[in-house]
Amino acid sequence: MLITIETRDLVRIFKHGDKEFRALDKVSIQVPEGVIYGLLGPNGAGKTTLIRILTTLLLPSDGDAYVGGYHVVRDANKVRKIINLVSGGERPGYGILTVRENLMYYGQVYGLSWGETKRRIEEVNELLHLDEFLDKRLNSISTGMMQKYALARGLLNHPQILFLDEPTLGLDVQNARHIRRVIKHLIEDKEIRTILLTSHYMAEVEELCDIVSIIDRGRIIATGSPDELRKMVKDEIIYNIDVRLSDIDRIRILRRFRTVVGYTIKTRQLTGEARIRMILSGEDIARIIRTLEEENIHVLRVTRDEVSLEDVFLRLVGRGLEDEYE
Ligand SMILES: Nc1ncnc2c1ncn2[C@@H]1O[C@H](COP(=O)(O)OP(=O)(O)OP(=O)(O)O)[C@@H](O)[C@H]1O
Ligand SMILES: [Mg+2]
Repeated sequence: MLITIETRDLVRIFKHGDKEFRALDKVSIQVPEGVIYGLLGPNGAGKTTLIRILTTLLLPSDGDAYVGGYHVVRDANKVRKIINLVSGGERPGYGILTVRENLMYYGQVYGLSWGETKRRIEEVNELLHLDEFLDKRLNSISTGMMQKYALARGLLNHPQILFLDEPTLGLDVQNARHIRRVIKHLIEDKEIRTILLTSHYMAEVEELCDIVSIIDRGRIIATGSPDELRKMVKDEIIYNIDVRLSDIDRIRILRRFRTVVGYTIKTRQLTGEARIRMILSGEDIARIIRTLEEENIHVLRVTRDEVSLEDVFLRLVGRGLEDEYE
């Protein structure tokens, strides 16, 4: 198994005044060739920092990192030749130029000749189907198109290794699904040899990634295939409890139960409901429901559920991945 990306005890410290902040704390990962590798973690976990070091945009404070066998500091120029980076929500290029003109421009930036760039745009067009907006001005295209164009830009230089930082950030469900399909095809068709992507969407990582590292506060806390990670919560039981949104502030009483390993709350403004996802270390649901009802929390629905990566995260970190978004 060939390792295409490797970090060894990677550290990145940011200084805030006279205080030091460790954005990455001894991160060691190994990414084999041919996989989609996911970095999953909440806001501020260090995902972008890690990607920026691997793409030579930021220097590490300590430790080593290799991409395609090259050291990211000592051989930065060699690394740059075999990679590209696409960040979700980025709008690279000039608004008044067309998508095609922008891609022509980036072709030059990447050192391709005029003819090569033209040919490459056709190839990338075959992969991503850009026809409908290739000759529209960049400032007139939709968010979904923009993300496709950003991906096209990232493919222009034939990278062996593609870094994707939150590739579906800000996209609606349909566009996000489309981009995920495209990403999957890039690996299946061997257009790209290895992809490292970051996300804080569980579903995205479960769907796309062969290997996932869960990262929190600058540390890797677990690594494995989605299946392997799910097995880390094999002894626990997962329940979803739906309640009224107006009852949600009293849900804290769940903490009284020793069997409640953790829970997350997802609010649904549209229906006026909230879903509490709960990890139990033992079958205690009847007693819990009774207690909730006694507290005048009206329980609308109770369903048992399969373990997801989200539960693994909650189990390991003690809080939900998307808590910050609520
Ligand atoms: N240039 C910088 N100067 C100071 N602090 C920084 C800098 N870049 C990142 N940080 C801090 O490092 C931590 C990690 O940030 P990073 O952007 O890597 O997180 P992330 O996992 O990508 O988060 P998100 O999901 O929000 O994108 C954060 O606390 C952030 O404030
Ligand atoms: Mg980030």
